[in-house]
Amino acid sequence: MLPHIPFNKPAIVGRELYYISQALHQGHSAGDGSFSRRCQRSLEHALGAPKVLLTTSCTDALEMAAVLLDIAPGDEVIVPSFTFVSTVNAFVLRGATPVFVDIRPDTLNMDERKVERLVTARTKAIVPVHYGGVGCEMESIGQIAARRGIAIVEDNAHGLFSQYRGRYLGTFGTFAAQSFHETKNFTCGEGGALVVNDERYVQRAEIIREKGTDRSRFFRGEVDKYTWVDIGSSHLPSDILAAFLCAQLEARESIQSRRREIWERYYDDLGQWASSFDVRLPVVPDHCEQSFHLFYLLMPSAESRQRLIRHLKDRGIQSVFHYLPLHLSPMGQRCGGSRAQCPVTESVSDTLLRLPFYYDMTEHDQMRVVEAVKAFRLQ
Ligand SMILES: Cc1ncc(COP(=O)(O)O)c(C=O)c1O
Repeated sequence: MLPHIPFNKPAIVGRELYYISQALHQGHSAGDGSFSRRCQRSLEHALGAPKVLLTTSCTDALEMAAVLLDIAPGDEVIVPSFTFVSTVNAFVLRGATPVFVDIRPDTLNMDERKVERLVTARTKAIVPVHYGGVGCEMESIGQIAARRGIAIVEDNAHGLFSQYRGRYLGTFGTFAAQSFHETKNFTCGEGGALVVNDERYVQRAEIIREKGTDRSRFFRGEVDKYTWVDIGSSHLPSDILAAFLCAQLEARESIQSRRREIWERYYDDLGQWASSFDVRLPVVPDHCEQSFHLFYLLMPSAESRQRLIRHLKDRGIQSVFHYLPLHLSPMGQRCGGSRAQCPVTESVSDTLLRLPFYYDMTEHDQMRVVEAVKAFRLQ
């Protein structure tokens, strides 16, 4: 029996335990210690963003963005249905109605050509998700948002350090949300960050993240006591997690170059097989520099996708599907979603299969996956 090849293994790059022990010995294991500040500064510097605040998840960062935009009952947000539940739930929690937009058949990103017709006087935000870290068409989405006076919140869970037309993803919206969940390129187990690109929101973002208090200002010596000034919650991660993340961010080059190798090997080795059997590989437009977050196959049918998952499982290889359409979920339907509303999403959700992809995947294991896929008979 061959050893099992999992779908994901979180990267461990070297200094995580050393930094975690430093955080413990420094005697500051709560949030906003020296490692949190290091991570935030490094992300601000790398992205050129005015403010980055670590959070306990991307979900938290999205929820903070919804509070910061004063999302309230009656507001609408334009969201893809092909996404993780948090992209939408964060806004529904504040009482907003999600308006689902379909995705493009090539990049599987929000179809910018279908956005404007969904805008109404109640539209408060557009939430592009950069699927697999390939940028949405931010030029068009940005123009629509500017013309109609709507905010953009980027869900950039997959796309840290990706670029669209030479500019980092996460810097286009008023806010962007990052994820450091164990399935992401950079991880600390569970974690995230809110990128604040409009300085006017920085102070309120700090307050919302600190349970509605001005504690951050107090720690900077700007006020002599801190108190309850707004709504908020506890969104900041422990400095132990920030220490873990710090080690990962410092290994940016090694993580990204390793992931690039894996992604390119899949793409090169499966290209011919895919075109002979009408299987689609990921599309990355020339003006997008991706993060090499995931590798998927779009199979010709739902039946062949399920059969390939079983075929790989029989050979000790775990592969998974991605995103059931939110507009067809029980909650999505209660929010007004209905069948055929997003036909591309429905078809992609039935046919997409993600192959194992992780930082320390050996070439040997990857070739086992490639050979197993090629041995699959479509007819
Ligand atoms: C597009 C997208 N947004 C948000 C999230 C939620 O991230 P987190 O687990 O950090 O809250 C995920 C999780 O995988 C995701 O894929």
